[in-house]
Amino acid sequence: MSFNIAIDGPAGAGKSSVAKNAARELGFIYVDTGAMYRTIALYLLREGIDPQDERMLAKALGEIDVRISYEGGVQHMLLNGEDVSDLIRTPEISDAASRTSAIPAVRKRLLDLQRTLASQEDVLMDGRDIGTMILPDADLKIFLTASVAERARRRYLEMKNKGQECILEEIRKEIEERDYRDIHREISPLHKAEDAVLLDTSDMDKEMVVKRIVSLARERMNGEKANV
Ligand code: DC
Repeated sequence: MSFNIAIDGPAGAGKSSVAKNAARELGFIYVDTGAMYRTIALYLLREGIDPQDERMLAKALGEIDVRISYEGGVQHMLLNGEDVSDLIRTPEISDAASRTSAIPAVRKRLLDLQRTLASQEDVLMDGRDIGTMILPDADLKIFLTASVAERARRRYLEMKNKGQECILEEIRKEIEERDYRDIHREISPLHKAEDAVLLDTSDMDKEMVVKRIVSLARERMNGEKANV
């Protein structure tokens, strides 16, 4: 049986960077499910398909092959064989992915892929609905969050460090809009699973968060062994 860790939380809470490091320390596979939604959004944007157009969307979903590959432990997203890992990290795709992910047919399509991965490997999977919908029986669930101001500040610094032009107030507005959409959508809205551990990282640095996740995971793993 594989051991599954679900990490959910809003945009910019630092999920992916801490999840990546925690997975490496635990020897787990890191699965970034947001990247899967981004990959589908990229395809639809390129083809000029409106995700609200059910017929065109169904056709497109039939043509899309989304795969994950791992090189040196790093997740790569393959869209019909093309490595799109870098192309999906733009503000335009962030916005499109948030809209695309609210469409039931898209979520249904990714649900199987995500569950299959989790059944085969020890995974640390991050997203919005992993603990509530995709892996309701995950061995450990964490809800990672931080204040809007702190999330905006982190994203701002990250973009500045990459040499990208950005305005703090705009980033803050985008985060608020994405939060609103992710929390209020009808299907799989973002919320904390009842049995998830809440981690507010507003006053924690990355290393502290990784340490906490790793120690929670080890406690659970030892607990499960003791119960066998
Ligand atoms: O985590 P991210 O910013 O890469 O995610 C991109 C979008 O995909 C985000 O707006 C929310 C959505 N998403 C989702 O609905 N469910 C997931 N499990 C992961 C991401």
